[in-house]
Amino acid sequence: MNSTSRFSLLLCALALTTTAAWGKDGAPIDFGPPVHTVTVPADEPYLPEGPGRNQFMGFCTMCHSPRFITHQPPFTRATWTAEVAKMRGEYGAPIPEAAVEPIIDYLMFFNGKETP
Ligand code: HEC
Repeated sequence: MNSTSRFSLLLCALALTTTAAWGKDGAPIDFGPPVHTVTVPADEPYLPEGPGRNQFMGFCTMCHSPRFITHQPPFTRATWTAEVAKMRGEYGAPIPEAAVEPIIDYLMFFNGKETP
């Protein structure tokens, strides 16, 4: 190894050690002011406490966001019943029979209407 390559090697080693010193131990690098903080809004719609909420959360949010449901206009019990049957039948939602009525109760509770 001649003196030129030894010098290059020394420069490389120096470069490596200086680079490693930045952000030492994962410490944040202080870029100084101004500091901008962005708060991302929570993306889930508000679903109030009510009868059947657990079954609803367990079975109606497994394939799609609850927004699919909260963005619907208020439906009658007959329409919600048909909607749940469609999810179980056409889309194969694995919802046990025992959970169907509580789910419809909850759909009526937060997004139902009495008359068509
Ligand atoms: C097995 C998966 C699955 C489950 C579980 C499921 N859905 Fe769906 N749902 C779908 C699919 C697939 C669509 C249609 C998506 C599209 O059109 O892009 C859909 C669409 C919808 C829509 C939009 C209107 C429509 O008929 O297309 C509503 C409302 C809805 N689901 C309600 C529910 C409710 C209430 C439950 C719980 C009882 C539920 N879903 C559970 C798969 C599911």
